Amino acid sequence: MDRANFGCGWSDLDGNIVFANKALCHLLGAPQDDVVGTNMKDYYPAEVRDQLVDIILPEVLEKGEWEGELEIVSIKGPVNYCIQKIFLVMEDDKPKYFANAITDITEHKKYEDLLHTDKLTSLGTLVAGVAHEINNANTFVKLGGPGIGKVWKSICPIVKKHCEENDIKKIGNLETSNMENYVGKLISGIEEGADRIQALVTELKNFARKEKPDFRKFVDVNDVVQAAVLLVGSKIKRATYNFSEDYAEDVPHIRGSRQQIEQVVVNLLVNSCEAMEDPKKNLMVATEFDEKNHRVLIKVTDEGGGIPPEILDHITDSFFTTKVETGGTGLGLAISSRIVSDHGGELLFDSQLNKGTIATMSLPVEKSNE
Ligand SMILES: Nc1ncnc2c1ncn2[C@@H]1O[C@H](COP(=O)(O)OP(=O)(O)OP(=O)(O)O)[C@@H](O)[C@H]1O
Ligand SMILES: [Mg+2]
Repeated sequence: MDRANFGCGWSDLDGNIVFANKALCHLLGAPQDDVVGTNMKDYYPAEVRDQLVDIILPEVLEKGEWEGELEIVSIKGPVNYCIQKIFLVMEDDKPKYFANAITDITEHKKYEDLLHTDKLTSLGTLVAGVAHEINNANTFVKLGGPGIGKVWKSICPIVKKHCEENDIKKIGNLETSNMENYVGKLISGIEEGADRIQALVTELKNFARKEKPDFRKFVDVNDVVQAAVLLVGSKIKRATYNFSEDYAEDVPHIRGSRQQIEQVVVNLLVNSCEAMEDPKKNLMVATEFDEKNHRVLIKVTDEGGGIPPEILDHITDSFFTTKVETGGTGLGLAISSRIVSDHGGELLFDSQLNKGTIATMSLPVEKSNE
């Protein structure tokens, strides 16, 4: 066992180690004599330990074995990524020990991470190129859909009349009685699909863009927010009767990209509009100057449905959306948070379910500019 190049250990059912081979001791960072008698659970990070105790070990007791990837912390500090195969060892028909075969894949993982970063960079380039081509191809669909719609409107009565006169009940698989409605739906499906492709491609292109904001330019935040409000105006009107704007007078100009900051404010406003469930509730946008911390704050506050706490950590992940049915891409906040961090700022969300959400974009101000 000591010659094995993978870790191998046995523990009693409480996790107390009764045997550990050399490779395992190396992984745990202590000599064999010190390892035996310690508890295996102490070598796992806290959240992994909970998973081990609550889920994995009960499964081993029930099914006899478990295999998967778990992290192990050496007492010298480093975390090792390991594939582990845990077996139940029986004695006199009773469960007696857990045996664990452990393969360290930390180096492999580092290499995989590197590959991943590299892949992401090429993915950005690929997306930017392909997005353009998809948009070109989609132009045909975008033009074709309404075109066919118009033609269908004119020929439908003729086809219907012809079918009635000649008692034709079906054309292909299509019931002629339901033809007008059905074909109409197919055509509007094509139009909606094409719009969705266009929106997605535009978002992808924005996302793939690598350019950084131009920090030579000064931006008047109040001005930018007002422009964003104008852009989203009709959506705001549909979402609420109670929209208000509150612009602080003393807001210093910040350095960055006006267009990008506007894009973030638009995304935040659109999200808030989409979260509104009752038009009598309030939606507000405000700017503030936090003099003490040298920051300009843009706050979008809505009294909409709020963000469930379990998804709060994921809302800025790419493609995370709860709006699949209504065509959300889940890129709005992913792009926004990248823009904000490119500006050295932060995007924070304070939300209460069924009460509403405050989204705060906090951007740094140069001291000389205050
Ligand atoms: N003000 C808000 N109130 C409630 N939920 C919100 C709010 N802002 C964001 N969310 C949640 O965060 C998710 C991600 O938002 P994000 O803007 O990134 O994507 P999206 O709005 O779903 O789609 P799109 O890419 O079209 O903007 C939303 O699907 C929604 O669940
Ligand atoms: Mg959005």
